[in-house]
Amino acid sequence: MTRQLKLALRAYGVGGPGQHNLWKDPRIPKNASIDIDWYIAQAKAAEHARFDALFIVDSQFINATYPPHYLNRLEPLTLLSAVATHTRHIGLVGTLSSTYNSPFNVARRFASLDHISRGRAGWNVVTSLDSGTSRNYGLDEHLDYATRYGRALEHVTVVRGLWDSYEDDAFPADVERDLFVDPAKLHALDHEGEHFRVAGPLNISRSPQGQPVIFQAGVSDEGRNLAAHVAEGIYAPGGSLPQTQAYYADIKQRTAALGRDPDHVLIFLGAAPVIAGTDAEAHRLSREIFDADNDFTRKLAAFGRSFGAYDFSGHDLDAPFPDLSAHAEKSGRTRGAAIIARAREQGLTLRETVLAFTEYQPSPFTGDPRTVADTIAQWFAARSFDGLNLGLRTPEDLDRFVADVVPLLQARGLFRTEYSSDTLRGNLGLPVPANRHLVTAKI
Ligand SMILES: Cc1cc2nc3c(=O)[nH]c(=O)nc-3n(C[C@H](O)[C@H](O)[C@H](O)COP(=O)(O)O)c2cc1C
Repeated sequence: MTRQLKLALRAYGVGGPGQHNLWKDPRIPKNASIDIDWYIAQAKAAEHARFDALFIVDSQFINATYPPHYLNRLEPLTLLSAVATHTRHIGLVGTLSSTYNSPFNVARRFASLDHISRGRAGWNVVTSLDSGTSRNYGLDEHLDYATRYGRALEHVTVVRGLWDSYEDDAFPADVERDLFVDPAKLHALDHEGEHFRVAGPLNISRSPQGQPVIFQAGVSDEGRNLAAHVAEGIYAPGGSLPQTQAYYADIKQRTAALGRDPDHVLIFLGAAPVIAGTDAEAHRLSREIFDADNDFTRKLAAFGRSFGAYDFSGHDLDAPFPDLSAHAEKSGRTRGAAIIARAREQGLTLRETVLAFTEYQPSPFTGDPRTVADTIAQWFAARSFDGLNLGLRTPEDLDRFVADVVPLLQARGLFRTEYSSDTLRGNLGLPVPANRHLVTAKI
């Protein structure tokens, strides 16, 4: 079968990173990020275009400098449960941190969403970037990378174990035999590991897709290893064609090395297309969007996020970039280390470093609809991604992508014209995981 492009929609309401002024756009309701009707409308539009999933990102720490959407937003599973009842086909992927949740809770909530949506739930496993989150959970310190990712792998393993508590035919619900549940088909987990002790069983059965689909976001060596072990989808950051190809090849190779089928890990690249009537117009629009958000004080504040929301305001802008490695280790080391290394190599001041890392870089998917569709097709064929996780600024931008770009992708046979399944797993072409208790029984 020819490889099919996957499409997800990231909904950022009043504006995510790099969209600090979006809330002023008259097409965006000021309460978009907490208005369930806004999300339902977005999900329906994406479903109408046969998108694979609505993708909800999340975090649990803010200060007033964070992007508008982060300051006032709905909790992902609550949101997705409501969207589920207004849609039939689109997948519902929610971000939940393995660092600040217990596996039993996560297993139960996603299994519930999976039933509510009749098999469309996906869990985006993150380890939490923001070190300040720890103080919202009664902890003095955020965990370091090794602990966060070690915990994440064990967390997912436990959650999956709990999702297999019941075999698929565990509920005969036979009135004549007076048998609601077959106790032989209910399994405790009895997990005892480095980070968790969980007895089980979970009090909810498997859904039509067997288990929710596991996504992952995090690009360090530790993050890639987690992906290779457990991810079925990845939300990957954008970059140049060679950078994204290298990431793609690395993930597929790590996955294969662990004996998994690399086609069962789908890489969704974050993308923010800018589309207009002509290429020149689209590039002008893209520059305008950048210029409207290009405020140094705001950028300086946002720059602190990789270093645990570090406050640079007291620093001399013209002194060398400070060594904040220890802050990055407890927060966003991948980006933090890249910033520190470049500042050191090039002898940059704080001001120069901020400017170097926030200079204008148009999305590679900028142009008229044909240019955008051509670029998507080329990068897809070049194995830069299996799918795109689209951040579109306004509902009009989504409509434009759907009306003008999707048909070109469909005409090339790259994107579906009808859903092939009612489940997220089915539409993504991912296998239903066999219940581990059945697998063991057959050996
Ligand atoms: C593309 C991408 C999206 C992410 N989305 C989220 C998110 O929605 N919520 C969150 O808490 N962390 C998110 N993360 C952060 C990761 O979970 C991780 O904590 C962080 O990236 C640091 O790990 P890394 O160095 O492995 O990337 C995201 C990371 C990436 C690369």
